[in-house]
Amino acid sequence: MKRQLRLGVLASGRGSNLQAIVNACEAGQINAVVAIVISDVAEAYALERGRRYGIEAAFIDSTRHRTRNDFDAAVLDLLRKRDVELVCLAGYMRLLSPSFVEAYKNRIMNIHPALLPAFPGLHVQRKALQYGLKFSGCTVHFVDEGVDTGPIIIQAVVPVLDNDTEEDLSARILAYEHRIYPRAIQLFAEGRLEIRGRRVLCHGTDTPQQQEKQAWGAINP
Ligand code: GRF
Repeated sequence: MKRQLRLGVLASGRGSNLQAIVNACEAGQINAVVAIVISDVAEAYALERGRRYGIEAAFIDSTRHRTRNDFDAAVLDLLRKRDVELVCLAGYMRLLSPSFVEAYKNRIMNIHPALLPAFPGLHVQRKALQYGLKFSGCTVHFVDEGVDTGPIIIQAVVPVLDNDTEEDLSARILAYEHRIYPRAIQLFAEGRLEIRGRRVLCHGTDTPQQQEKQAWGAINP
């Protein structure tokens, strides 16, 4: 078996995407291991989930660090000590400092519950409903200095139904997040992703037919 890619997951909340990643690792769908879970929220359920799987779970207290840079330096230090190769943001509610992004350049991913570049930021399912979208979805992208602006790796399209509440739409999108995030990590682990400008190319899918299959396959594995 090839050496496993070492993941560091940063999460501020319930950690269902973390769970999907752990499940995919355990099922052998991705050749990776979650080396550490880090949260800026002491009671984040993501930490609890990590511990249940015997994964190191660390809370870093932002009130003990004067600036965003100081806080990020503490996170970075821990990630490096654990030899983390890919950082996965999974409901992490802090904007990374430029020095963090630079330290893990093109090795940080995020999952966002909308079809970027539409609706970056927060409360996006509510905004999608207010706008009257017929389709929304989710996006896995590399992280740059902006808010949800980095190069897009995989997107999944999800229908918006007439009577959807914010919770209904969030839940429908979340099910697709859990499919595409592990898939994007797997492609990274296989060394198949190449960032060219704003575009992320996926090697090993040479014909248009293969590319189409790959795109839909990410959603319906
Ligand atoms: C997800 O909707 C993700 O797209 C967004 O934050 C939420 C995190 O959910 N970035 P969970 O903590 O992974 O369950």
